[in-house]
Amino acid sequence: MPRTVTDAITAHLHLEAEIGGYEAADARKEAVDGTYGSLAQLVGGAPRNIAIVSNATTGFIQTVSSFDFAPGDAIVTTRSDYTSYQIQYLALAKRLGVRILHAEDAAQGGVDPDSVRDILKRERNRVKLVAVSWIPTHSGLVQDVEDVGAVCTEFGIPYSIDACQAVGQLAIDVKRLRCDYLSVTARKFLRGPRGIGFMYASDAALARGDHPLFIDMRGATWTAADRYEIAATARRYEDWEFPYALVLGLDAAARYAMTVGIDVAHARAFALGARLRDLLRAIPGVQVLDRGREPCAIVTAQIGDRHGSDVVYLLRERGINTAATLQWFGLLDLGKRGVTSAVRISPHYYNTEIEIDSVADVLREIVDQKAS
Ligand SMILES: Cc1ncc(COP(=O)(O)O)c(C=O)c1O
Repeated sequence: MPRTVTDAITAHLHLEAEIGGYEAADARKEAVDGTYGSLAQLVGGAPRNIAIVSNATTGFIQTVSSFDFAPGDAIVTTRSDYTSYQIQYLALAKRLGVRILHAEDAAQGGVDPDSVRDILKRERNRVKLVAVSWIPTHSGLVQDVEDVGAVCTEFGIPYSIDACQAVGQLAIDVKRLRCDYLSVTARKFLRGPRGIGFMYASDAALARGDHPLFIDMRGATWTAADRYEIAATARRYEDWEFPYALVLGLDAAARYAMTVGIDVAHARAFALGARLRDLLRAIPGVQVLDRGREPCAIVTAQIGDRHGSDVVYLLRERGINTAATLQWFGLLDLGKRGVTSAVRISPHYYNTEIEIDSVADVLREIVDQKAS
């Protein structure tokens, strides 16, 4: 996190300790309200379309729970959608009889928008939602969310995008994406705090009266013994209890990202990712796993026969932060390719070429150690 983000968070925590939680929220009302403007500027839409939620997963859950599924209704998704969502789809299938239809991949990897079209042609009356993870958790693939958006518009089917790994490394414009929903986390390329995120809901979704199944007293008012009235804006998706310090941290992160420039961050992070892939491809025994026309700044690789978690630990000992990817994180993709585990390396725009080169050097050492 940049200093301005941690300063925003700690200043608010100190204020809460000094004058009280409710009082601190009132004192910083203008700044909190301004967060909706910053986030709308970051992804498009207006402040009324933004809801601040605890993370991207919550945004997705609030989205999905806005639809009333009957047995036999369908959700169309991709083979690379986020792990938790695939689990939630299975739970929906088991508990509500929802059918989960995975669109086919294109030859170069990533969802094929024509496959989405074919499914919608066949099933348009039963498909309640199309949901796509723009960038999955388990590889550097960038899915073609814009073309899928065009297909959903053609058939008038609600469309939700998981932009968790995209925000901060890709410019986002919800109008171009033609999505009804978009969910985001703060803690990844946006460089915000953990435990906070946000979602976008389109004017069409708001006008339709979409609202989460477990709406609370922030999202609705109890107007009569047998009635509630939903908030006019996307706040209908929020929780009454609100982590104001993190919200202000999210605001600072969004403003910082826009000051850096998303296009600048994108070009730099993608270039560092491409450099790392080239270096890794030159190491015997290392297999780069990222598919798609132009992979992003998430570099995933299988390091010889070392387990991804061991590699993460060895890198951490050398001051290099990475994450492990396990087969079940992307079962329909990695499973098919026989990948059991991998390391995920996500260079950010602030990293240097020297740092990238040293990651490759250390990975070469790790492979050599194992071989000798
Ligand atoms: C592609 C993708 N979507 C969604 C999420 C969920 O984000 P969060 O854990 O912040 O809810 C993740 C987390 O790693 C992710 O990689």
